[in-house]
Amino acid sequence: MTERRFRRALVTGASSGIGASFARLLADRGVATVLVARSADRLGELATTLRTEHPGHPGGDVEVVPADLTTADGLERVGARLRDGDRPIDLLINNAGAGQVGLFMDLDPDDAQTAVLLNVVAPLRLAHAALPTLAAQGGALLNVASIASFQPVPMMATYAATKAFVASWSQALHEELRGTGVTVTALAPGFTRSGFVDAADARDVASRIPGPFWDGPDEVARAGLDGVARGRALVVPSWLYRAGVTASSLTPTFVTRRLVGEVTRRLG
Ligand SMILES: NC(=O)c1ccc[n+]([C@@H]2O[C@H](COP(=O)([O-])OP(=O)(O)OC[C@H]3O[C@@H](n4cnc5c(N)ncnc54)[C@H](OP(=O)(O)O)[C@@H]3O)[C@@H](O)[C@H]2O)c1
Repeated sequence: MTERRFRRALVTGASSGIGASFARLLADRGVATVLVARSADRLGELATTLRTEHPGHPGGDVEVVPADLTTADGLERVGARLRDGDRPIDLLINNAGAGQVGLFMDLDPDDAQTAVLLNVVAPLRLAHAALPTLAAQGGALLNVASIASFQPVPMMATYAATKAFVASWSQALHEELRGTGVTVTALAPGFTRSGFVDAADARDVASRIPGPFWDGPDEVARAGLDGVARGRALVVPSWLYRAGVTASSLTPTFVTRRLVGEVTRRLG
C-alpha cells in the first residue's frame, strides 16, 4: 500500500497536549500546518520551534490563527482559512476540546454550554467549511472523540455526551463520504497526559487514576495519524481501552452506566 501523504493540515487546539503533538508529528512528516487555539503566545512559540527545526522544509511552513472556537467570529475566521483554495488544507484535525468533572447540578451551566460549543458545534461548522476543499484534494477529516464516547459517564455527563456525538457523527460521515476520496476518522483516546486535567479542574480525580491507564499525547496523536493514513473510521489508541470498548459494547447499558457511575463516584 502506498503511504497516504498530506500537504497542509489545520489543527485546532494546537497550543498544548494532543494538538501540539499532532503539530510536531506532522511537521516531522513534512506536512505544513495551520495552528489554531486561543493562546496566541503559545501557538507562536510552537510555530517558531517548528520553523527552526525544519528550515526550508514543508514542515517549517507554519501559520498561526488565534481563535476562540466558541465564538461566531472565531469560527468564521478559521472557516475562511479552510475555504481558502490558494493554500488548500487537505487534512483537518478537530482536536480542541474541554470538559468539566462533577455533578451536573453543581457545575456552571455556562461551562457546560461552552463544552457543547467547543466539542460539538465547532467541529461541525469547521468540517462543513472544509469539506469542499477536502473533496477537491482527496483529503481527510480527523475528529478527536474519547473513550467517554461509548457509554454514559456520570460526573462527566455533558462531556461524555458531546464525545458520543463526535464518535457517532464521524462514523456516519465516514460512510456518507465512502468512495469520494475523503476519509473521516474518529480518534477515541483514554486518559492522556495533557492540559485537559488542569482545564477541567480535575487534578484530585486524576491523581487517583493508576499509571497504566495513562497514555502520552505523542502516542495518541501518532495512533490518530496512522489511522487516518489507513482510512480507518475509528481509532482507539491503546489495547487496554480497545478491550474496554469491546467489553462495553457487549454489556447492557444499564450495567455499564451503573458500573461507570460507581467508579466515578469513588474517584470523585
Ligand atoms: N486528555 C485526556 O485525557 C483526553 C481523553 C480523551 C479525549 N481527549 C480529547 O483530546 C482533545 C485534546 O485535549 P487535550 O487532552 O490535549 O487537552 P489540552 O491540553 O487541554 O488541549 C486542549 C486544546 O484546546 C484548546 N482550546 C480550549 N478551548 C478553546 C477554545 N474556546 N477555542 C479554541 N481552542 C480551544 C486549548 O488551547 P487554548 O487554551 O490556547 O485555547 C488547547 O490547545 C480534546 O478534544 C479532548 O476532549 C482528551
